[in-house]
Amino acid sequence: KKRIGILTSGGDCPGLNAAIRGVAKAAYEKIPDVEIIGIVDGYSGLIHGESRVMKQSDFSGILTLGGTILGTSRQPFKTIRVIGEDSLDKVANMKANYKKMGLDCLLTLGGNGTHKTANLLSEEGLNVIGLPKTIDNDLWGTEVTFGFHTAVEIATDVIDRIHTTAASHGRVMVVELMGHKAGWLTLYAGIAGGADIIILPEIPFDMEAVVNAVARRAKNGKLFSIVAVAEGALDTEEAKLKKKQRAAQRAERGEKTASERIARAIEAATGMETRTVIPGHVQRGGSPCAYDRVLSTQFGVYAANLIANDVYGVSVAMANHEVTHNPLSEIAGKTKFVTPDCQMVRVAQNMGISFGSK
Ligand code: F6P
Repeated sequence: KKRIGILTSGGDCPGLNAAIRGVAKAAYEKIPDVEIIGIVDGYSGLIHGESRVMKQSDFSGILTLGGTILGTSRQPFKTIRVIGEDSLDKVANMKANYKKMGLDCLLTLGGNGTHKTANLLSEEGLNVIGLPKTIDNDLWGTEVTFGFHTAVEIATDVIDRIHTTAASHGRVMVVELMGHKAGWLTLYAGIAGGADIIILPEIPFDMEAVVNAVARRAKNGKLFSIVAVAEGALDTEEAKLKKKQRAAQRAERGEKTASERIARAIEAATGMETRTVIPGHVQRGGSPCAYDRVLSTQFGVYAANLIANDVYGVSVAMANHEVTHNPLSEIAGKTKFVTPDCQMVRVAQNMGISFGSK
């Protein structure tokens, strides 16, 4: 008999429910008398002892459902470690509630922050397994995270739709996609949607180079341009500044993100009509694509097998197209960034796509 606790933490994404369902269905098949405890709203539920015993029927009909049936919250690792003003020791509380809930193990579905806390709890002696989810695809040790491909599909559809209106009006359209630190989503959707310029957080841009790329297209008779910009993009000067200085500078200029400034600079320099489009959280909403449904199910089933074999302190991963696992201690705290010389960046460059760098 085993009691499995499951929680989903950090920003939601399509595929979370499919993964929960994968774990549950395989666990009911493989582990005699298994009981699944749903922990509410991520680590917050573990800190405050909020959970519910799940029934088999809770896992039916959720394969295609977006978001998470368990709820989620952002509990940054930094604040998890800090003992609050109310003298609440969150780590001690999580350990106590794990015991109180009678758990044999804890499954945490999340991204980088979630994995840091998962590793901390594992070091504290809890049996923890991580499952890699994020639309950013920036988790160390796995080729792919679930949620990423759905977000790429949505963002690509946005660029496709922008393409037709851009062409009709002869405009420059600056599409701002999600990704504060990692640019995988913008890179993939930019290639899939045929963007002319792709601007990523990892490759600081030079405004003159961006403007020149648009002007060059116009000179060659291309009367519209699509610029795909990740929300965390920085120009070379901003990249040298600290986060606070950057925020102050932007506030002074009356702008929130780089995309607004890029749009204004292009319009001022080329005289071409320019618009900014921000699809925002639409990129994280709705049903997972077929790829993510399959991936989430694979990861979930693999996690259930790890539990059946009492393998803990690990995170499920994809390596060389095979599902596998990595020690939490090896991946926690590391981020998988786009590198300027990675294959996908080179593919784009070979296609004549500009990254706006000098
Ligand atoms: O990590 C996923 C993500 O969607 C990022 O791409 C984005 O920068 C961030 O979350 C947005 O955070 P929030 O959900 O707090 O608005």
